[in-house]
Amino acid sequence: MTQEVALGISPSDFLVNVFPLMKYIPSWCPGGQFKHFAAQARRSGQELVETPFQFLRNSIENGTSKSSFGANALSKSVSSSNPTYIQDIKEVAATMYGAASDTTVGVMHACVLALVLHPRVQELARQELDGVLGSSDSPGFRLPTHRDRRDLPYIEAIVKEATRWWQPLATGIPHATTEEDEYRGWRIPKGSVIVTNAWAILHDAGRYAEPYEFRPERFLNGEGNLIDDSVIGSAFGNGRRACPGRSLAEASLFIQIASVLASFKLGLAKDENGKDIDIGHATSPRDGFLL
Ligand code: HEM
Repeated sequence: MTQEVALGISPSDFLVNVFPLMKYIPSWCPGGQFKHFAAQARRSGQELVETPFQFLRNSIENGTSKSSFGANALSKSVSSSNPTYIQDIKEVAATMYGAASDTTVGVMHACVLALVLHPRVQELARQELDGVLGSSDSPGFRLPTHRDRRDLPYIEAIVKEATRWWQPLATGIPHATTEEDEYRGWRIPKGSVIVTNAWAILHDAGRYAEPYEFRPERFLNGEGNLIDDSVIGSAFGNGRRACPGRSLAEASLFIQIASVLASFKLGLAKDENGKDIDIGHATSPRDGFLL
């Protein structure tokens, strides 16, 4: 489904996105093939909305459901038999899953790669974690919780650096201007498609020195506290339609990264002879997309 969304929102992959009148071409006419794609995407979208919800309903009925957005919303409200309310829950849950999974998982994959390639970052993170959670071989050791966030600025900096280093939506979602505008002397007519190059913003050497290096420290000041960096927000889009899931994404990346680093030392996988398996082909976002 997410692949279909990614293709469908591209202004250039489908001519109908550039010439909306093409929507009147029947699917059997030359140039109307996009309608087959749209029909398939609609089926996938409906499946994403219906299948998990059915699973949730069944698990509530047989008493095996766990706490979740859907389960809580259904149990809380007196209107849980109202079809509009049910449809809202289904669609919000599907939107959250669809928008959150590839993006958050993509950043997490990139972060694991970065940590494998940068043992020094792991070491600094572990020192910070040990100071807050206790060392993993001491009796008082515990796993991190969200309450530890403010005491773990280096882990927060890793979250920001991973999101910058391998931002998963390089050109965001295309938008259209509602009014004529002007930018540096260029006239932008009403209805123009605007694509933000978030990748270039987040890899601008003027802002982030040596941008293809993975350096969480760039988000910290001399005292090791987080600096106020407004540009990193571009990873989540800009303006009114910026990502509404940013806080959830950052909290979820924080707890995953902190928990992984508190529990494991990450390194290269070994081959059958015990030698490190080379991952040189996937070591820098400069070489292309990993995922
Ligand atoms: C690292 C993780 C994430 C990244 C990098 C990310 C990035 C983005 C970007 C660039 C956009 C387009 C903004 C624009 O149109 O200008 C977007 C939209 C959106 N995101 Fe995220 N996102 C992430 C996680 C999440 C999560 C966890 C959720 C929800 C649980 C979410 C929900 C949404 C929704 C619903 C939209 C569409 C908003 C709209 O069009 O009004 N995202 N995201």
